[in-house]
Amino acid sequence: MAMSPKKLHIKTFGCQMNAYDSERMAEALAPAGFELTEAMDDADLVILNTCHIREKAAEKVYSELGRVRLTKEARKAHGRDTMVAVAGCVAQAEGEEIIARAPVVDIVVGPQSLHRLADLVAKASTGKRSVETEFPAQDKFAALPQRATGKRQTSAFVTVQEGCDKFCTFCVVPYTRGAEYSRSPSEIVAEVERLAARGVREVTLLGQNVNAYHGDAAGGGTWGLARLLRRLGEIPSIARLRFTTSHPRDMDDDLIALFGDDEKLMPYLHLPFQAGSDRILGAMNRKHTAEEYEGLIERIRAVRPDLALSTDVIVGFPGETDADFEDTLSLVRRVGFAQAFSFKYSARPGTPAAKLEDQVPEAAKKERLAALQALLEESRHAFDRSVVGRRLPVLFEGKGRKPGQVTGRSPYLQAVHVEGPEALIGHIAEVDIRAAGPNSLTGVMN
Ligand code: 5AD
Ligand code: SF4
Repeated sequence: MAMSPKKLHIKTFGCQMNAYDSERMAEALAPAGFELTEAMDDADLVILNTCHIREKAAEKVYSELGRVRLTKEARKAHGRDTMVAVAGCVAQAEGEEIIARAPVVDIVVGPQSLHRLADLVAKASTGKRSVETEFPAQDKFAALPQRATGKRQTSAFVTVQEGCDKFCTFCVVPYTRGAEYSRSPSEIVAEVERLAARGVREVTLLGQNVNAYHGDAAGGGTWGLARLLRRLGEIPSIARLRFTTSHPRDMDDDLIALFGDDEKLMPYLHLPFQAGSDRILGAMNRKHTAEEYEGLIERIRAVRPDLALSTDVIVGFPGETDADFEDTLSLVRRVGFAQAFSFKYSARPGTPAAKLEDQVPEAAKKERLAALQALLEESRHAFDRSVVGRRLPVLFEGKGRKPGQVTGRSPYLQAVHVEGPEALIGHIAEVDIRAAGPNSLTGVMN
């Protein structure tokens, strides 16, 4: 029987939910004696936690596996074995195909089967390769170990919801992450309480469609996201709450009201609009118009005027004309975004939009993306400049780049650097914002 491996290297791609899953995988493997290492060539077990949202995602994983194979061969020359696992959404989408194409891989495990990882590793150490991509009815969160009391952390992510039933025509998520599922409020409250006990001050609730959250409460009934946030706000040492990512259709009245009356809920909202043209929004199956999106923003700003908005935008969806794209630009100008992520449309195999005929030429997509990004940058800088001269509470998270500096986040999620003692880390202090740089703010404390 092979010697039991002890060092674990996880390479994480994609979204914050994958980052969270990577943490949980490390915790799930700790009882089997695995310790994390930054160095792949030091690792007895290498996990690639993959993302499938962008173009050529699978191809990138196969070429990454080529590099892993070289590492494995080099270790082999020194008499050391390396086990290799592919996790995440590419694992889910490709399944058996990975085992067939990449002999280096021992384990393929989808996001819904992470709790099976320790078993799969035990199996692999006897030489059996496995593919685990079912969507089990069992709650994987309940089956995963409780979060370890490891390193000190000021801000933490907690996945509360997974999957998506929206079926935007460009998106693979409903296929890779499956149907919407919400964790129970009691499980989440317990997890956040544990995080709070180990010094966490800020929690960001994660979900592909987090505001569709509907968790079954122990005493019967269902909690929406607003109720969950209110409950988490009752934990005294939790000072800040955030959530991402939301769908406009699921912004209910309770959640909107919360922005106005819960001071722990930060004035920051990531709300993708994807496109400014109603024709394109229709073809995307977004289930809202541009006007409805703006109406929603108005309602939230009515209760929280200083709300910082973040968004996702796609250019070059099939059939998008110059006029459609202009609608996207004018929506950006009207709403004003503090932050944004923008993408060229890429056809994802298996999605309805991939089959549409009038795909936009690459050159036009490139041009539109450049124009959009220039505008979004302008919008972001304008927002950053608007807080210069204000006094903002900053939650300090770590040491700055320069000696004597500490760095934290404003309520609007901007990075803020100040001169100050390390003892500030883990605390909130008022900072006079003096300047806005390209990617961060600087301020002084007095
Ligand atoms: N092409 C381009 N962008 C995409 N996104 C999702 N699928 C695609 C695709 N096929 C973007 C959306 C989504 C973000 C996470 O990624 O803007 O909100
Ligand atoms: Fe994808 Fe649309 Fe669901 Fe977001 S809402 S995960 S873009 S299908």
